[in-house]
Amino acid sequence: MNEKNQKVIGVLTSGGDAPGMNAAVRAVVRSAIKKNMQVMGVRRGYNGLINGDMSEMNIRSVSNVLHRGGTMLLTARCNEFKTEEGQNQAVEVCKQMGIDGMVIIGGDGSFMGARALSLKGIPCIGIPGTIDNDIACTDYTIGFDTALNTAVEAIDRLRDTSESHDRCSVVEVMGHGAGHLALYASVACGGTACWVNEIGFDVDRDVIEKINSSIRTGKHNFIVIVSEGITDVHHLARYIEEKTGVESRATVLGHIQRGGTPTARDRIIASQMGCYAVDLLEQGIGNRVVIQKNAKIIDYDILEALTMKKGLDRGLLEVNQIINI
Ligand code: ADP
Ligand code: F6P
Repeated sequence: MNEKNQKVIGVLTSGGDAPGMNAAVRAVVRSAIKKNMQVMGVRRGYNGLINGDMSEMNIRSVSNVLHRGGTMLLTARCNEFKTEEGQNQAVEVCKQMGIDGMVIIGGDGSFMGARALSLKGIPCIGIPGTIDNDIACTDYTIGFDTALNTAVEAIDRLRDTSESHDRCSVVEVMGHGAGHLALYASVACGGTACWVNEIGFDVDRDVIEKINSSIRTGKHNFIVIVSEGITDVHHLARYIEEKTGVESRATVLGHIQRGGTPTARDRIIASQMGCYAVDLLEQGIGNRVVIQKNAKIIDYDILEALTMKKGLDRGLLEVNQIINI
């Protein structure tokens, strides 16, 4: 509480940035102010909480950010916050600033931090913000749609040049070990092969043989999508060329997928989740994560959320297998 007896909440973004984080911050700030709360914007993730790097936000602090990628609050990976001392320091800062609750926008690592802080007496609400869509309890994470569309646009461009040269384009997409971006991009772009961690994969059977059998049906150009961290795509391109005779090139899409103007879907879900998070804090509820399940925004226990495993959409995997030949 502040001297005016208003509830004080903080908001931060943590881990990898994701398009739509600004829309979530904007919703948190405006809905909290509407409920007569004071809002502190904490900079650079948990670093800002440890160092007291924060300032009060008003309804105009979040003007003209709805359509911007990145995060206006900046973000960071803060190892110090993983330690007991770091967390105690953050709690101390929250007490000094009169912070009654926090909204943490980030991925599952950030939610571990939110849980730690909640257990130490600062109620925290997590909002899933990551392009990886790898948080099990929620159907959707803010940023996924924008990153997917960015990847699709880039792969479409690669297809133009691959087609012109009768080549194979091997494309690495992000995902932090999760294959959601890769699979969705493959369905949207017609990937002849899609290599993800979640399914058993054999390069000779699932890439080389597939390309060779497509050649037999008259296909001349190919897109092979690989989820990051599985294999060296340059090496894979050379192997494909050697085994199929199709000239191949590799492209790592990298951080391009993290930037750019958020899609309408990301802006809308981020706005809904931001308002929902403030509703929970207003009721004094913490240790929850806001999620989207069956097109509804609801909340979930953070610990349970962190113990769940998210598999790939089996139906989509099947569709990918059937039509991308
Ligand atoms: P993401 O939130 O996108 O999954 P990270 O896994 O890098 O990204 O986590 C972001 C930040 O969350 C870390 O830099 C750290 O500050 C905090 N964090 C991660 N794991 C823990 C943990 N076990 N305990 C406390 N804080 C954590
Ligand atoms: O979690 C988002 C993400 O972009 C992952 O897809 C990727 O593995 C990772 O972050 C990259 O992290 P950094 O920006 O630290 O290189």
